[in-house]
Amino acid sequence: MISKTASPPRQQSARLKRQTEQDRLFPTKNDLSPETRTGVIDLLNRRLADCIDLQTQCKQAHWNVKGPSFIALHKLFDDISSDVQEYVDLLAERVVQLGGVAEGTARCAAERSALSEYPLDIFDDEDHVDALSTALSEFGRMCREGIDTSDELGDADTTDILTEISRGLDKWLWFVEAHQQGTPGEDGNR
Ligand SMILES: [Fe+2]
Repeated sequence: MISKTASPPRQQSARLKRQTEQDRLFPTKNDLSPETRTGVIDLLNRRLADCIDLQTQCKQAHWNVKGPSFIALHKLFDDISSDVQEYVDLLAERVVQLGGVAEGTARCAAERSALSEYPLDIFDDEDHVDALSTALSEFGRMCREGIDTSDELGDADTTDILTEISRGLDKWLWFVEAHQQGTPGEDGNR
């Protein structure tokens, strides 16, 4: 006979999944709870996939941009790629510090990234400015959502990492958007 106090099947399977994930944690003297570490590792691996995707998008723009602003944009996109590569490392190494496995292969990133696909058929400087500013803006939004999640999970250090990354992304978004910006009040939020 089924007890009246038994949890619904969906809650049971969510609890079982969390338990299984916690069983996979490497032991560490880090004092964050297994529940916090499991939740943060999942969050970080998702942002890691996005970040790897973003880095390849920066290179795609760096290689293929053409037009009057070629040399400025070619260099700018490479500078952004270098910083984004550092963000990849920050995210992946935090996963391992928490006892998890950094899942950062190109195939993982392709499967999991939540970023929009970068167009392969654009060449003009304006089009690359538009496409890369979209990617930077999307990843910035995801990092800010991640800040709230890691805050709720109780990991101030991951919150700090995501804050550092989102601050850097906002700076690069400014650098890229400055090539196409209209006049104030034209459109508040593109
Ligand atoms: Fe290059």
